[in-house]
Amino acid sequence: MRSKAVKVPLNKGEETRRILRKEGILRKDLLPIKKDRFILFPVEREIEGFEIVEDDFKPKRERINSYRDIVNIPDKLKEILPSSYDIIGDIILIKIPDELKPYQREIGEALLKAHKSVKAVYHAEPVKGELRIRDLVHLAGEKRTTTIYREYGIEMEVDVAKVFFSPRLSGERYRIAKLVENGEVIIDMFTGCAPFSLVIAKHANPKIIYAIDINEYAIELARKNVKRNKMLHKIEVIHGDSSKVVRDLAKKGIRADRIIMNLPFGAREFLPDALKASKDGTIIHYYSVLNEKQIEEHINHLKDITNNRIDVLKINKIKTYAPREFYICFDISVSRPA
Ligand SMILES: C[S@@+](CC[C@H](N)C(=O)[O-])C[C@H]1O[C@@H](n2cnc3c(N)ncnc32)[C@H](O)[C@@H]1O
Repeated sequence: MRSKAVKVPLNKGEETRRILRKEGILRKDLLPIKKDRFILFPVEREIEGFEIVEDDFKPKRERINSYRDIVNIPDKLKEILPSSYDIIGDIILIKIPDELKPYQREIGEALLKAHKSVKAVYHAEPVKGELRIRDLVHLAGEKRTTTIYREYGIEMEVDVAKVFFSPRLSGERYRIAKLVENGEVIIDMFTGCAPFSLVIAKHANPKIIYAIDINEYAIELARKNVKRNKMLHKIEVIHGDSSKVVRDLAKKGIRADRIIMNLPFGAREFLPDALKASKDGTIIHYYSVLNEKQIEEHINHLKDITNNRIDVLKINKIKTYAPREFYICFDISVSRPA
């Protein structure tokens, strides 16, 4: 686009930009251009003391703050657009409410436009079943469910269709890693594609982490991810049912310093098995989804099923899961039977 411009030598660029901004005449819709040893700032009007020229300038790309500002749906529906969604590598998972389903493709396209690095958008149903995976509906972009995800210096291949994964637990994984002391033996009973194990191996110095999962595909990715992050000497990936694998480890005399039980709707059934591979002072990070009123009752239940061998040291509310329900981690310490 044609515009008047202030022309100054390159070495006067920053100083001039400040003056033009202060005068309020620098055009915000056009980009400055460099020509030979000069820079041309597009301006609203002429200004005394500067050489004025005319030239063609490229428009500045408008920054999109939110997909909600550009989505092509009736205005009255805009207020029920989801304000949060997960970005996993270059894939977005969003939960589209039923009322918005007729416009799900428009929503997908708007998300693609608003996030330049994102290549695929899916509607995600809630996680379900033993493997905690979700049904997906493709909304926009590439039809691809594998991606490379990075957090706290690790890099993981994730398949959002075949393996549970939540970027919202990244802070929690780092919190646990920072609690780990040198030389610990750790069991990650429900490892998925191994995010807890990898963040711990990266930021602490455990002796060994046993990373277990029943989902064959998660284990395949976990193995790849351990290799990718050069942690083969720190993490042993085991495919199988944790309750059996943990009992087998215990039979071999293995006692963990720390056990991670990230299976929110089922971990309690596995707690007695976890105790078999525990010793006095073992710390268990036990995850559950509960509302405020259920917390005390749940702790009492855990004490009952473990013959009072556990103490809850800390209750960490990590995120809201549903209205008034929290994704909670109990940091538990184990004592030997009296
Ligand atoms: C909520 S996901 C957690 C995955 C991983 N820790 C993470 O944070 O991404 C629970 C995992 O437990 C696995 N799982 C369910 N039952 C299991 C069992 N009996 N033994 C081993 N793994 C199991 C599922 O396959 C799933 O990958």
